[in-house]
Amino acid sequence: MTADRRVAVVGLGYVGLPLAVSFAEAGLDVEGIDVSETRVGTIRAGRSPIDDISDERLATALSGGLRVSAQGEARVAEADAVFVCVPTPINSTKDPDLGPVLAAAGYLREHVREGQLLVLQSTTYPGTTMGPFREVLEGSGLVAGVDFDLAYAPERVNPGDPASAAREVPRLVGGMTPRAGERAAALLGHINDKVVSVSSPDAAEMAKLLENVFRNVNIAFVNQLALLCERMDLDVWEVIDAAATKPFGFMRFTPGPGVGGHCIPVDPYYLSWRAREFDFVDRFIELAGDINLAMPRHVVDLVAEALNDRGLALRGAKVGVVGVAFKPDVQDDRNSPAAAVIAGIAERGGEVRFHDPHVASFRDAAGVVRAGTDLESLLGWSDVMVVVTAHKAIDWGHLFEGAELVVDTVNSSAGLATRPRQVLRLGAGWHAGVAQATPSRS
Ligand SMILES: NC(=O)c1ccc[n+]([C@@H]2O[C@H](COP(=O)([O-])OP(=O)(O)OC[C@H]3O[C@@H](n4cnc5c(N)ncnc54)[C@H](O)[C@@H]3O)[C@@H](O)[C@H]2O)c1
Repeated sequence: MTADRRVAVVGLGYVGLPLAVSFAEAGLDVEGIDVSETRVGTIRAGRSPIDDISDERLATALSGGLRVSAQGEARVAEADAVFVCVPTPINSTKDPDLGPVLAAAGYLREHVREGQLLVLQSTTYPGTTMGPFREVLEGSGLVAGVDFDLAYAPERVNPGDPASAAREVPRLVGGMTPRAGERAAALLGHINDKVVSVSSPDAAEMAKLLENVFRNVNIAFVNQLALLCERMDLDVWEVIDAAATKPFGFMRFTPGPGVGGHCIPVDPYYLSWRAREFDFVDRFIELAGDINLAMPRHVVDLVAEALNDRGLALRGAKVGVVGVAFKPDVQDDRNSPAAAVIAGIAERGGEVRFHDPHVASFRDAAGVVRAGTDLESLLGWSDVMVVVTAHKAIDWGHLFEGAELVVDTVNSSAGLATRPRQVLRLGAGWHAGVAQATPSRS
């Protein structure tokens, strides 16, 4: 077995930058490469573009084994192994867009050399590593499994959750050949305590999608339960808390305004698209996507319902959205359900402003860009506030004390000593004594 110590990481985003920094911290010689010269410049200047890597940690890595290069200046051929961590988006019809993966493969085709190990890490459908990724690489004239080694090793990091990036989180590896798998596992063994090998890149690709489809389907399931609880005048949050006391055979998922980020609203469609090639309709994925995609529209309906309860119309109302990042405590607003919520409110004639301590400006689903405002101004301005993302940095007690009317999509009032009375909650309606504050319902 070769002792690989020089690593290149292609794509320095939420996945690639932590990987490159971790390898450097483990004492390996690392070259981080990105197609974006702006990103390369930012990282080189010691400014981390992502939440999970602090500037201090980046600076230490940069003064150690990490160097950062634009594509044109990189010395890829010197690397023993190359990890590819580029985006895998979907297009407007929710079909996989392998553009970045194939562009990265096309770049590597010009540099790959005999004896190198190439590892795809982007989330993708089973068959990508052994199919299109490999085919582009073999355009170099070298043959995978003979002249160079090829493997797939999915990432499990969950941005904003440091525990997900811990050494203890096992990593999966599927090599095209036993040697490829062993080399990839040995490298990941520098930064993870446990590396689990599976029989092929396809199996590892499918395992990663199973993890994400599992989340997507379960979130859709509780979203649907939330809609039912609203009709039945039950509090879905109370119901979930109750069920979660079962110490086995149950896993807690919570409803919300929809799913966001790079993974959950995107990755499942890689599998459902691939399934069709096998004359197979993955109904779970299609159904879960349908339910989750409809949640922002439901939130807009709740806003209209809350205003209606006060004798107000959504048209002309001032709606303050709280939180636009796709989940708490991160600045990542990719595919955030807030985009559809805001566009939906604006489409029905509401005026929208937002506050997010982590996001300065935000583009809604109709393409309208708004600058954020501070919480105090938003409280003073809004007829109704809609909580989309419950960042810890927000003073929730103050918000619920000051707001006239709130639509709470994530049960952000749960931790407060007294339950506010002017809150319409997703999955619970005006339930739990809230009706006292709404004379029209008393
Ligand atoms: N973000 C997550 O939570 C997460 C978790 C697990 C897996 N993944 C998967 O990891 C992959 C990367 O996601 P991310 O969140 O890091 O994306 P990202 O958008 O944060 O970063 C991708 C980086 O790749 C660069 N890039 C794009 N095309 C390139 C090319 N051809 N050559 C070199 N660089 C290129 C971009 O400039 C960007 O800096 C995706 O497949 C994603 O599904 C993401």
